[in-house]
Amino acid sequence: MPTDMLGREYETFPVPSPLQQHGPARVIAMCNQKGGVGKTTSSINIAGALSQYGRRCLIVDFDPQGAATVGLGINANTVDNTIYTALFDMRVDVHDVVRRTAFENLDIIPANIDLSAAEVQLVTEVGREQILNSVLRPLRDEYDVIIIDCQPSLGLLTVNALTAADGVIIPVAAEFFALRGVALLMQSIQKVQSRINPNLKVYGVLVTMFTRTLHCEEVMQRIYEAFQDKVFHTVISRSIKLPDSTVAAAPITMYAPNHKTSQEYREVARELVANGVIA
Ligand SMILES: Nc1ncnc2c1ncn2[C@@H]1O[C@H](COP(=O)(O)OP(=O)(O)OP(=O)(O)O)[C@@H](O)[C@H]1O
Ligand SMILES: [Mg+2]
Repeated sequence: MPTDMLGREYETFPVPSPLQQHGPARVIAMCNQKGGVGKTTSSINIAGALSQYGRRCLIVDFDPQGAATVGLGINANTVDNTIYTALFDMRVDVHDVVRRTAFENLDIIPANIDLSAAEVQLVTEVGREQILNSVLRPLRDEYDVIIIDCQPSLGLLTVNALTAADGVIIPVAAEFFALRGVALLMQSIQKVQSRINPNLKVYGVLVTMFTRTLHCEEVMQRIYEAFQDKVFHTVISRSIKLPDSTVAAAPITMYAPNHKTSQEYREVARELVANGVIA
């Protein structure tokens, strides 16, 4: 039996069996208001790995920076329809906003800087927390997983993501300030649970940017004290191959399939299937 970075023993996660049919999708919010912890990288690469296991994946870029969009090779400044148009223009069919990527089973709803106006515009909308949920509803039956790549904030866009989601994955970078702000994030999740979306789960905490140093191991221990069994067995190492793959506009499992980091992202994907998060 393998042992994880916390010394916990676990069963290896088997390669998922092929699906006979697709959908309804699990909707996952990739969420942490701390910037640069690996939300976008994990959205792209978990979806990338799952798509290679035959799961139909949709990434919703929910950050005006559009990093997930760019990271999958789409120039968001040249597309007419983005998540912004889907949110605010009732005439737009969400199917026309979805873009195929160069990769099988991997689609995206792009975002660009237009989305930065949404936070203010949402305030006066009817059912302002529920808009993303309604936008995504017609797509649920067509995918096995929908991953919402949140922006680093706890504003109304993120509340929309938590309202639309079945569960949250919290990427946490293995560094000194790892847990800063996490209490606030958990409060936001609890508020959404008690007021809007009682079924919202915390699927787990994904430790990223890990190096085998005493410092990282101490941080890892503190993350475990805070989240206990919610911490995924799989840990993502720090690797220059990840920014490289973003520049190459491909998930790492396609850019460098044999690299250690590809194995790690495939392992998280298998862990999610083994945990029953994804079919
Ligand atoms: N495991 C890793 N090893 C090395 N670099 C990484 C790793 N994960 C992410 N990065 C790099 O760190 C930077 C931040 O990662 P990413 O954009 O995924 O974080 P984010 O949480 O989405 O950030 P933001 O809050 O700005 O949206 C990027 O340049 C990315 O390529
Ligand atoms: Mg991001």
